[in-house]
Parts: sequence; structure tokens; C-alpha cells
Amino acid sequence: SSDIAGDLTTILVTEKEIHDKLDELAAQIDSDYEGKDLLLVGVLKGAVMVMADLSRAMKKHVSIDWMAVSSYGAGTKSSGVVQIRKDLDADLTGRHVLIVEDIIDSGLTLSWLLENFASRGVASIEVCALLRKPEAAKVEIDCKYVGFDIPTDFVVGYGLDFNERYRNLRDVAVLAPHVYS
Ligand code: PRP
Ligand code: MN
Ligand code: MG
Repeated sequence: SSDIAGDLTTILVTEKEIHDKLDELAAQIDSDYEGKDLLLVGVLKGAVMVMADLSRAMKKHVSIDWMAVSSYGAGTKSSGVVQIRKDLDADLTGRHVLIVEDIIDSGLTLSWLLENFASRGVASIEVCALLRKPEAAKVEIDCKYVGFDIPTDFVVGYGLDFNERYRNLRDVAVLAPHVYS
């Protein structure tokens, strides 16, 4: 339907909880990178909201770049095949890089990205993800900044989509099974 509310079962993380957590993470990142030049790399499209709110919660001046990759296509499961749809503009050589993600599900996207970035000569590389599904991990990702560990239900909102929809929802919510089954 065109009414978002009827497609959701429960709200998992509210807008307020998200913003409080991002404020906390931003303060931690500010302090960890004090005196260092930091490049935030957002993974399009899901990370758009996290990037907007996390970066503005930081006191530090940072650079922001974007990479577009996709592994999900139109389904609810990762294909495991990561495709670059848009590469970075920035040269990563000697840079302190923090990858900003909306969610770590199987971990396949980030594991591929971390390997790809490491080969570009970064000075350091860390990950910040708003959400993580520990029980869905196919590969372990060393993620320094995690917002919330959540169950394996398919969630949407705050950047996360199903078939490109629901990204503009302010909360993170569980998608009702009738939508995708
Ligand atoms: C989603 C999500 C993460 C990735 C996590 O992106 O935004 O980037 O999947 O899944 P994984 O840990 O199993 O790899 P998606 O490929 O759907 O592209 P999108 O950000 O454009 O929605
Ligand atoms: Mn994504
Ligand atoms: Mg997606």
C-alpha cells in the first residue's frame, strides 16, 4: 500500500533513540580522532541518514565522500556479490578513514569494502554502523562504533529500504512479512 504504517509490525528503534546514540558516537569519534584529519565514507544509499546526523553531531571538521555499492538488489537477502556503482572521488592514500554504514547484516558488504580500502593505502580504517545483526553474521566485522545490536528481522527506515521504499521513515521498524512474502 502507499501507507507506510500498515506495512510495519513494530518500531524497533525510535528517532529519539537513534539521535541520542549518534550524539554519543559522535563525541567518541571526536575524541578518538582529535588532532587527526578524518575522512568519513558513506555507503550509498542506506547510510545517507546516518551520515547526515552523525557528521552534524560531531564538533570536528571532517571530509565526506561516498561510495555506492549494492549486494541486495530487489530481495531481502544479500547476494554476496558486491558491485561498485559509484567509486570514491577521494584518494585514500595516507588518510584516516571511517566507513559509515546503516547496518551490518551478513557483513559481506563491509568485509569486501574493508579489503578494497586496505589495498588503497589508508593510514587507518574503522567502521561505524548504526545497526548490527549479530546472529546474521557470515563474516566477522571489526566494527569500532556500533549503535544497536538487533534481531534478524528485516528492518526498514532511517535509510534502510525494501525495494527502494521506506528509506524516509524516521524510525527503524520491522517490515511486516506480508510485504515481501
Ligand atoms: C544494505 C545495507 C548495507 C548492507 C548490509 O545495502 O545498507 O550496506 O546491505 O548487508 P550485508 O552486511 O549483508 O552485506 P544494500 O545493498 O541494500 O544497498 P542500499 O544501501 O542502496 O540499500
Ligand atoms: Mn547499503
Ligand atoms: Mg538496500
